[in-house]
Amino acid sequence: MESGSLVKYEGKFYRLLHPRPTLVIVSKCPGGRVNLMPASWNTPVSEDPPTVAVAVDKSAYTHECLQYHKRATLNVLPIDAADLIYRLGSVSGREMDKSAAVKLEPSQYVDVPRVAGALAVYEAEVYKEVEVGEVVLYIFRVVATWAAAGVADQWGFDFKKVNIPLHGAGRAFYKVDPRPVFAKKP
Ligand SMILES: Cc1cc2nc3c(=O)[nH]c(=O)nc-3n(C[C@H](O)[C@H](O)[C@H](O)COP(=O)(O)O)c2cc1C
Repeated sequence: MESGSLVKYEGKFYRLLHPRPTLVIVSKCPGGRVNLMPASWNTPVSEDPPTVAVAVDKSAYTHECLQYHKRATLNVLPIDAADLIYRLGSVSGREMDKSAAVKLEPSQYVDVPRVAGALAVYEAEVYKEVEVGEVVLYIFRVVATWAAAGVADQWGFDFKKVNIPLHGAGRAFYKVDPRPVFAKKP
């Protein structure tokens, strides 16, 4: 790698860690209503137990719903759903029933539906919660992992066949370039 000159970054610090794969969290809320929220601050955490963490703002209705019912589905939607994803992230479930915007179908292991047409779905239960500033980092234990038939193998998605929304900033989403860059064997 060439050494370049670095200048102090004046934007929000996390912007340089984007674009990020975006999940849609489906949760069950007081009264039994279902809510949806996109979240790009997510990451796998451990393999054993299988866990995925998502940072959820304490002001989000999803936080209240996860406190009420500590199960969720984490849905990876196709890039074509970018408009829908942005809409789901622009209004709170406190103000409207967002579940009407998508087709939901039952999950197998957790009592929270999944989004029909998702490319991948994690059925998950809250395993640990870590309070950090304005968010709660929800560490979910993955109960089951599903992928749409024919679009993923053991190495992940086939990006020649499908693409996923990587959230940049604001309304900007990116696609994955389907041409891999293979590192040389050391
Ligand atoms: C693409 C995208 C990614 C987002 N990622 C997160 C995130 O990781 N954590 C978070 O707390 N909010 C995130 N948001 C904002 C929430 O989705 C937004 O505040 C939403 O309205 C919360 O919904 P709720 O109040 O119904 O739970 C994101 C929004 C968008 C559009």
